[in-house]
This record gives sequence, C-alpha cells and structure tokens, in this order.
Amino acid sequence: MTRPGLEMGKVYLVGAGPGDPGLLTVKGKALLAHADVVIYDALVGSSILELIPPTAERIYAGKHCGAHTLPQEQITALLMEKARTAAVVVRLKGGDPFIFGRGGEEMLALVQAGIPVEVVPGITAGIAASAYAGIPLTHRDLSSSVAFVTGHEAAGKYRPQVNWRALAGAVETLVIYMGMHNLSHIAAELLAGGKAPDTPVALIRWGTTPEQEIHLLRLQTLAGQPSPVAPPSIVVVGAVVSLAGLLPTLRPPVSYCSAALAQPESP
Ligand SMILES: C[S@@+](CC[C@H](N)C(=O)[O-])C[C@H]1O[C@@H](n2cnc3c(N)ncnc32)[C@H](O)[C@@H]1O
Repeated sequence: MTRPGLEMGKVYLVGAGPGDPGLLTVKGKALLAHADVVIYDALVGSSILELIPPTAERIYAGKHCGAHTLPQEQITALLMEKARTAAVVVRLKGGDPFIFGRGGEEMLALVQAGIPVEVVPGITAGIAASAYAGIPLTHRDLSSSVAFVTGHEAAGKYRPQVNWRALAGAVETLVIYMGMHNLSHIAAELLAGGKAPDTPVALIRWGTTPEQEIHLLRLQTLAGQPSPVAPPSIVVVGAVVSLAGLLPTLRPPVSYCSAALAQPESP
C-alpha cells in the first residue's frame, strides 16, 4: 500500500523465530499486524505468514542455506524502494535476524542510505530447537560455554574460516547452523581437535514445527559418512545432549493456554 505524501517509512528487521508461532515476540506480532509491506524469507513458518494482514503487500525473497531467490542486492534495493512509499516495511526473517540471517548486512545498507531501520530480535533456531529437544545449552555440571557456528562452507571449495579444532578444545557446547552438507568434515575436525569420539550429538530438523525430527547419535558415527539428516537442521555437540532423553521433548503443535496468559479478574 503506498501512502501519498509520506516522507519516509521505516524498515523493521523482525525475527520470526524458528517456526512455532508461539515463539514470535509480542513486538514482532504487533508490527506484522500494522505492516504495509512484508518481505519474507523461506524459513518463516506458514502459521506466522497467516498473521500478515490481507491489506499488506507480501514479497517472497526466498532464502535457503545462504542462497536467495532474489539476490541480496535486489532485496536491499527493494527495502529502500518500499521504505520510500510505505509507512511500515517488515523484513521478516527466520529465527533471529542477526544470527546467520544477513540482518547486519541489510541494516548497514539501509543506515548508509539514510533509511530509518530498527531490529526486533527473534528466538534463534539453535536455542529453540535445542530446548524443544530437551537440551539445555548450558548446565552447571556439563557446560559453561556455547558457540553458534556456521557449517556452511561448501565441499570442494572449503576454506577453513572456522577453526573447528580450536573450537573443539575451547567450547563445551557447539550449536552448528547450515552444517548438513559438511557434517562429516566437521565431525572429523572436532575429533582431531580433541573432542571424545563418544561425545553426544543431536541433529534437530525442522525444530519447533509439526515436522520436527530429533536424531541422537555419537560424534564418531558422523565422521566419514554422508549426513543422515537433510536441512534445515541444527547440530548440537556436547555433553548437554545426554540430557535429551531425561528432559521432556516438546512436540509441536504446542497448545497455548490462553486462560493462563489472561489477566486475573479483579474480585
Ligand atoms: C540462514 S540460517 C538462518 C538462521 C536464523 N536466522 C536463526 O536465527 O535461526 C538457516 C539455518 O538455520 C537453521 N534452522 C533454521 N530454522 C530451523 C528449524 N526450524 N529447525 C532446525 N534448524 C533450523 C538451519 O541450520 C538452517 O540451515
């Protein structure tokens, strides 16, 4: 919807969370309800897209494992164009915009172009998918450190930007995004860096959605073989994964008790 006479709209980089609509923030939901334009990525859950008002223009930017349907420059140009004609432009991204979501790059381009922009953090897949699988990323007795790491370094073109061997010795819980195509190499590097072969690993696919799959295995079984699970998946490596069988698993769809969230009536 264009607004004649509007000087400049504002772009909101909104994190949609990993899929379960109950994990969208209150602020993100309110912005969606007032959006004039929504530009969204592939991993935004369908039940979150249902919250977009019919009056808003929807644009699919598509993004899977770093590859865009629209090239990144085109998305940035589109955001700038829409901010000049619409009041509320929501750039909706899966999880959190600033965790492997190119939110930083998009925000910088908008700031440099003089476009007002604000980030609305979301719950990142690494945290939510692990929690739904019954895995706390830290635990007093098992892990005092967590790292979020990208595993998206294409086979054949591998440039060792991530020092897996150093991470193996320095960090107790590793949460790996976009690691499915490179999992065998990552596992071999972690073993070479000193992680024990029997270190527990969780592969969580489509976490927090009705398609959620949780696979529990050991680090040594991943080295030297193709990944047993397809994207989009989160890999959690570390002793905390041993809690997965002890803590309850959340299986979406999760029902929300609206009565529990309602304000108590005054006597
Ligand atoms: C481009 S990154 C975007 C990450 C996103 N910004 C976030 O904070 O969750 C895409 C990767 O996130 C992970 N991912 C996103 N949603 C997921 C989900 N529901 N379950 C498991 N992994 C997910 C996968 O590793 C996927 O390949």
